[in-house]
Amino acid sequence: MRALIPAAGRGTRLRPQTNTKPKSLLRVADKPLIGHILDNLKTTKIQEVIVILGYMKEQITEYLQKNYSDHFKFLFVEQEPRLGLGHAVYVAKEQAIDQPLLIVLGDMIFLQTYEDMLQKHRKNGECAASIGVKEVDQPQHYGNVKIKNGDITQLVEKPTIPLSNLAISGVYIINDTPLLYKALEKIIEEEPQTGEYQLTDALQKMIDWKARLKTFKVEQWYDCGRKDTLLEANRIILQEKHNNHIKLTHSKPINSIIIPPVAIAEECQIENSVIGPHVSVAECTKIKNSIIKNTIIGSHVQIENTNLTNTLVGDEAIVKGTPLELNVGDHATIQMK
Ligand code: G1P
Repeated sequence: MRALIPAAGRGTRLRPQTNTKPKSLLRVADKPLIGHILDNLKTTKIQEVIVILGYMKEQITEYLQKNYSDHFKFLFVEQEPRLGLGHAVYVAKEQAIDQPLLIVLGDMIFLQTYEDMLQKHRKNGECAASIGVKEVDQPQHYGNVKIKNGDITQLVEKPTIPLSNLAISGVYIINDTPLLYKALEKIIEEEPQTGEYQLTDALQKMIDWKARLKTFKVEQWYDCGRKDTLLEANRIILQEKHNNHIKLTHSKPINSIIIPPVAIAEECQIENSVIGPHVSVAECTKIKNSIIKNTIIGSHVQIENTNLTNTLVGDEAIVKGTPLELNVGDHATIQMK
């Protein structure tokens, strides 16, 4: 089995953070989002990972080669043009078709392990695929599935009138990979003008062809696609790591109060400040005379005489003065009275 991670998108809902780096490299707790996905993949026996790249692809390949190539073999595939999730999976046909596939979306963090999901899939018995689902309040914002006697009977992408309260959660375990690729080819051929090809529609096509698709329930699912959900994921992952006694502070603060859980990377200088709870700071950042909570701060940042909450600060930014809630991109300078 191989894993496939679509990570080509621009992440427009996370601007300005994604103006200078791809969404999958945004920091959550102590590492970039895609690092959490790969650490979770280590719970499985999977060793080959197909990564679909597009926007700022070099940054992703560099990060993965540097941090994960001792454990995984990466197959990088470029998606150009970018025509939706179905198309992202389709472009890796050559690399993916000959083995079962675990597709995991690049902007989700699960506390539940992928191995646990694979076990649930195995319990489903003979089927062409199992799709991770979760009951949600607003299924119209997701891919939506209808089930009868444990089998999926229908799937619709973001329906106006939902079929059920079950949302597709972004984990797909595909046994019959050749059939999935046949279905993707078919939807691309049938609708050449749409501009966006949905994986959900290809899965529906498999059902139309009498394939058996099952579901499994996912828990503890965090979509990191927007500022507030990214900050929420940061809060929860920090808490989880803190509860598991994972070392999160690698720099020694001076005359400061640290309220856990926080993650402070190497070579940071923290002085006369109150940091936490739920603050994540990347390497080589300097924080002086400030109070910071529920905030993610990049590397080589300077923060002075300020008070930040619910804030994202990009790499190499300078923030001085008294802002309260910000979303500061890389290389920005903010000075307030
Ligand atoms: C994608 C899928 C959708 C799924 C969702 C999970 O949508 O197309 O079926 O429910 O991920 O987050 P997107 O978030 O790319 O709009």
